[in-house]
Amino acid sequence: MSSAEEFEARLRDLLGALDLPAKIRLLTGADAWALPAEPAIGLRRLVMTDGPAGARGSHFDERDPSAHTPNPTALAASWDRELVRRIGLLLAAETRAKGAQVLLAPTINLHRSPLGGRHFECFAEDPLLTAEIGLAYVRGVQQGGVAACAKHFVANDSEDQRFTLSVEVAERALRELYLAPFETLVRAGGVEVVMAAYNAVRGSTMTEHRGLQVGVLKEEWGFTGPIVSDWTAARSTAPSANGGLDLVMPGPDGPWGEKLEAAVRAGEVPEVEIDDKVLRLLRLAAATGVLDGFPAPEPEAAYPVGSPAQTELLREAAARGMVLLRNENLLPLAPDTRIALIGPNAANTATRGGGSADLSPRREVSFAAGLGLPATEGVRPGGRQPLIDLADCVDPVTGEPGFQVEYRDADGGLLGSEHRATARLAWLGLPEEQWRRDDLRVVMRTSYRPRVAGTHTFGVTGLGPTSLTVHGQRVIEPVTSGWHSLVDSFDNITEQLGTVVLSDVDTPVELVVEHRPIAAKHGYLRCGITHRAPGRDAEEELAEAVRQAEAAEVAVVVVGTNADLESESHDRTTLALPPGQDELVRRVAAANPRTVVVVNAGSPVLMPWAEEVAAVLYAWFPGQEAGHALADVLYGRAEPGGRLPTTFPRTAEQAPVLDTTPADGVLRYDEGILIGYRAYDQHRLDPAFCFGHGLGYTTWDYRSAESPTGVSAATLHAGQPIPVRVTLTNTGTRPGREVVQVYLGRHASRYQRPPRVLAGFAVVDAEPGETVEVEIPLAPRAFCVYDEQRRDWLPEHGSYLAEIGRSSRDLPLTAVVTVH
Ligand code: BGC
Repeated sequence: MSSAEEFEARLRDLLGALDLPAKIRLLTGADAWALPAEPAIGLRRLVMTDGPAGARGSHFDERDPSAHTPNPTALAASWDRELVRRIGLLLAAETRAKGAQVLLAPTINLHRSPLGGRHFECFAEDPLLTAEIGLAYVRGVQQGGVAACAKHFVANDSEDQRFTLSVEVAERALRELYLAPFETLVRAGGVEVVMAAYNAVRGSTMTEHRGLQVGVLKEEWGFTGPIVSDWTAARSTAPSANGGLDLVMPGPDGPWGEKLEAAVRAGEVPEVEIDDKVLRLLRLAAATGVLDGFPAPEPEAAYPVGSPAQTELLREAAARGMVLLRNENLLPLAPDTRIALIGPNAANTATRGGGSADLSPRREVSFAAGLGLPATEGVRPGGRQPLIDLADCVDPVTGEPGFQVEYRDADGGLLGSEHRATARLAWLGLPEEQWRRDDLRVVMRTSYRPRVAGTHTFGVTGLGPTSLTVHGQRVIEPVTSGWHSLVDSFDNITEQLGTVVLSDVDTPVELVVEHRPIAAKHGYLRCGITHRAPGRDAEEELAEAVRQAEAAEVAVVVVGTNADLESESHDRTTLALPPGQDELVRRVAAANPRTVVVVNAGSPVLMPWAEEVAAVLYAWFPGQEAGHALADVLYGRAEPGGRLPTTFPRTAEQAPVLDTTPADGVLRYDEGILIGYRAYDQHRLDPAFCFGHGLGYTTWDYRSAESPTGVSAATLHAGQPIPVRVTLTNTGTRPGREVVQVYLGRHASRYQRPPRVLAGFAVVDAEPGETVEVEIPLAPRAFCVYDEQRRDWLPEHGSYLAEIGRSSRDLPLTAVVTVH
């Protein structure tokens, strides 16, 4: 018996020790994040944690914070596989420290429409770039001894009506675009878990989709791990069990359990299906070290939690993702430049997007803090007000910064209390047992010291009616807000505002937030308090920004979105920056021609002023080291390493795919294979910034490219990459980093083909004057078409043009490859 056979035989023995109820019990979560233990076979709890930008653990708690990476689009913008693998190792260390075995990441859906709410959480618009960066991410996480989870399978590329919409997509587009990254992560990456999406594809909801889950993922690609439902995505018993879903999350309630047992006994679900699910779970348990008798993984130990190595990597990654879109001889700045730092996101930097990518970060260095400069807002940030500043809040019981939080019953009886150093409370399924009740009331108290006299605006947010009393005066009445599903409501909390005049600076007033959580019984709670101090009126604020810009050598204006605007369960409604920000940029640029605009957003925004300013740097949501990374790039201590992983339209109308609203529950992918740059090239559209674009601080000469002239179709069909050698010279005066991109096109084809598709890429570094040679393997699939009739990938015979350069629209070298 081979060791693999022996491994499987041992798992079968364990399976044989369980009766039907015991088997079925293992397939639904014990709580929000863990699968149940089964001591009879030595199985311990298997714990999962979100998500792509950090391992947040089972709590949303400042007492157990997390390292916080740049958003996934920013990681992909590095085009740097090794960097992303190292980020994966860092995330694995964090996941292990949270006591979890599975990291619910990466998200490998595609940038189909720039309005997609989780665009910031997906890597790219191109399936090859998504697959390559996803592969590096999965390798890092799994080398770190943690199972990665590729999500959300499949066609969950937008958020509106995500529980119910059905995607209508042709087979070729599904295969070549949306399934392709999953295929790579399964076949080449050995990803250990896959998550089934909320949406349906061609009328069958994904958790029940036997054709895709069993036919494609398990049988065709050979996936041997479990498919876990997205949280609350499983809504049926027999259809989901027969459709290939293996695990239902969260628990302990859900559509399986006793109902599934009855369905098996009634012959609606064959018991072999249950056995297959348990075996998949046991494989995962064995691989992640929670099954007795199987060796625990030996993780590549790197980036220990909270270590300087971790901080350095997060800073490096943020800088490597930043994309310098435009630079008219302004950057990098000399160290002693007199800078006016302006803009709503300068001090209120958005380091991450919302939804399951949200977490409680170990630290957050704002742009203002990283640059060591005071900031003038110019205009207010979009979305909700910022959380109240804890430095002005004192817990009346402990005297520490923060709140005294009381948990009470309906009659006001005290169930418990604690000090919290946060203005936002959240439970995601794991509350203290004694507070888990229908009639729970949460009271947050603090003694607030106003720094300025005048009209203060306070806000409360809550998953349930929430009120605010300031100094005995009711400032915000509780409101019952619209209720969607739990998962959607958690990420979509509205803010109620109220104002109060506080005339005595530095004289503390008592703030009391009273919250009636509507889902505490199930372990979900969310409430918080926001604040805005009195300030200048809008015109004066803008005028002050202009004055600052005029008086400085360089104006740095930071505009952007934030986690309120880019999050789960809703798509964006506009590509425009929040109100007033375009005007701010224009006024500052008119006042100072040496203006750098830094855009702090997870997805593309419109930049109608882009050609009126000297420099534009896209910083994305840069994670906890945002400010340090920005300083590194602006002062030239780091190369802006990023290249766009997605095309930036000039106007909303120009985007080839924009609207994400389903019509009668159906979202049609009528554009077929033409998304992103494929569509811009095909329709000869001139985007604001093309796919692959990004400047560095040096210049390059692309000298030559060599490829094998002839390649056999059999080689391609067997999945062998085709090497292209590219020689280039750093012709500038600084060391530099370049992302060399190879696109493949074919004119005479019997299939529809976009003018070019990304076929390979590599990152090179060179000293001034240095010539480097790099070998870039071209993906065999770039030569193939998924033939819908023959249901296979077919390499087409004939010649292909490889175009090589620094973006999809700047391709100085070519080579011809002929397939015979
Ligand atoms: C998201 C998943 C996430 C899960 C658990 C869902 O709402 O779609 O990406 O992993 O919640 O938080």
